Amino acid sequence: MAGLGPGLSLFVILLGMFILCRAKYEPNWKSIDSRPLPDWYDQAKFGIFIHWGVFSVPSFGSEWFWWYWKVQKAKPYVDFMQRNYPPEFQYQDFAPQFTAEFFDAKEWTDIFVASGAKYIVLTTKHHEGFTLWGSKNSWNWNSVDIGPKRDLVGEITDALRAHSSLRLGLYHSLLEWFNPLYEQDAHNAFRTNYFTSTKTLPELYELVVRYKPEVLWSDGVGNAPDTYWNSTGFLAWLYNDSPVRDTVVTNDRWGLGSMCKHGGYYTCHDRYQPGHLLKHKWENCMTIDSRSWGYRRNAPLSDFLTIQQLIAMLVETVSCGGNLLMNVGPTHDGRITPIFEERLRQMGSWLKVNGEAIYNTTAWRAQNDSTLPNMWYTFRPQENAVFAILLDLPNSGWITLSEPVGTPAKTQVELLGYGSLQWETGKPSGLRVLIPQLSFNQMPCQWAWALRLTGAT
Ligand SMILES: *[C@@H]1O[C@H](CO)[C@@H](O)[C@H](O)[C@H]1NC(C)=O
Ligand SMILES: *[C@@H]1O[C@H](CO)[C@@H](O)[C@H](O)[C@H]1NC(C)=O
Ligand SMILES: *[C@@H]1O[C@H](CO)[C@@H](O)[C@H](O)[C@H]1NC(C)=O
Repeated sequence: MAGLGPGLSLFVILLGMFILCRAKYEPNWKSIDSRPLPDWYDQAKFGIFIHWGVFSVPSFGSEWFWWYWKVQKAKPYVDFMQRNYPPEFQYQDFAPQFTAEFFDAKEWTDIFVASGAKYIVLTTKHHEGFTLWGSKNSWNWNSVDIGPKRDLVGEITDALRAHSSLRLGLYHSLLEWFNPLYEQDAHNAFRTNYFTSTKTLPELYELVVRYKPEVLWSDGVGNAPDTYWNSTGFLAWLYNDSPVRDTVVTNDRWGLGSMCKHGGYYTCHDRYQPGHLLKHKWENCMTIDSRSWGYRRNAPLSDFLTIQQLIAMLVETVSCGGNLLMNVGPTHDGRITPIFEERLRQMGSWLKVNGEAIYNTTAWRAQNDSTLPNMWYTFRPQENAVFAILLDLPNSGWITLSEPVGTPAKTQVELLGYGSLQWETGKPSGLRVLIPQLSFNQMPCQWAWALRLTGAT
């Protein structure tokens, strides 16, 4: 400290102490829930969910195959097994057929980039317990020991980071339906921790340290409280000391009753779509095959959501403050089939024209409009631009938006991908826009159209 005056020295010492003792999150919900969500997540708006695992081998019914077959004894599953497999066949016998011979993480990454998504979330372990990486806590029930004999999580992580700016998210199921240690803890009313101390927690730490995910998508809380899962203890480590402490985001599935209440952003329930603005950041996780998250070989075309439906969902979700996490189910041999690929590329083609109305937006003071149905607002404060996204293209002629207020000589209206449109003040209020007659070739895009109103309030 030679040369510094006593006042300055004290200042330097205090500054040092401040840096060393930077805000530490404590292992309780009050402290964990006080952490601000890293900005990138709200800006991203759109991610891709990927359900892949041993369930992709039967690829029948859903990713809950094992459960429906053995616990529910649901007839379609029991019949499917009786017709196609010998009586002694076990669920574990599917694992060697999880081959992934066509899996190319670079090809997947190219499709994800083309979709306009900004992050992915991969199932590293679903409720069946099979890990898509060589977990040392999942002896002979992981993708390095059986099946593909590859570190699938590692390959996706590396390709994503080498070939894109998308962020990596990892899904992890806390519970494992048939793990004997979990069953023992459940039998003890979750007063013992055999399963969490030897399986769940070591694997969670391993996933974070090894792959450095920026979304940790927790699921499978079962009937166990967060104290059984040691969730606040784990999250305190994640937020204070993990290699991703500054950028990682988490969801809300950390124990019985924590959904829609604790953790990072809210998922509340699958396919969550509140239809109005929420105060807390949320995510709508949904799947393109409306009946399953895992691949189904016998899914008919009519079960897949159309691109119009998917875009409508993205627009409504973003307008109400959410992110959309759209799921695809790859095959056991590692393909993203053309129906999923087409939906993803269509979404990307729409976002190429209309991304300005989606990425980095915030909710506006109104979400939709009383005079114009099927329309949702978003807002970009940096540019003072309100976006009105029309899910139906109106006939040419004047349309009225009842919410925005324009100022002559200041307000400008533009159809994204096309150009300026004529507008006038509505009577008694609102703003009227002249939709031009557009020939097929003049259409900036299909499926939904965005008006940008700059300088309107
Ligand atoms: C549970 O969390 C606490 C922090 O509250 C930590 O000290 C402990 O090591 C954690 N237990 C396990 C098994 O990870
Ligand atoms: C969103 O904002 C961030 C931070 O300002 C910026 O880095 C990023 O390029 C923006 N993305 C888009 C698509 O505008
Ligand atoms: C906005 O959308 C919601 C949900 O679809 C609907 O219930 C509500 O009536 C709409 N509001 C207006 C003003 O149209």
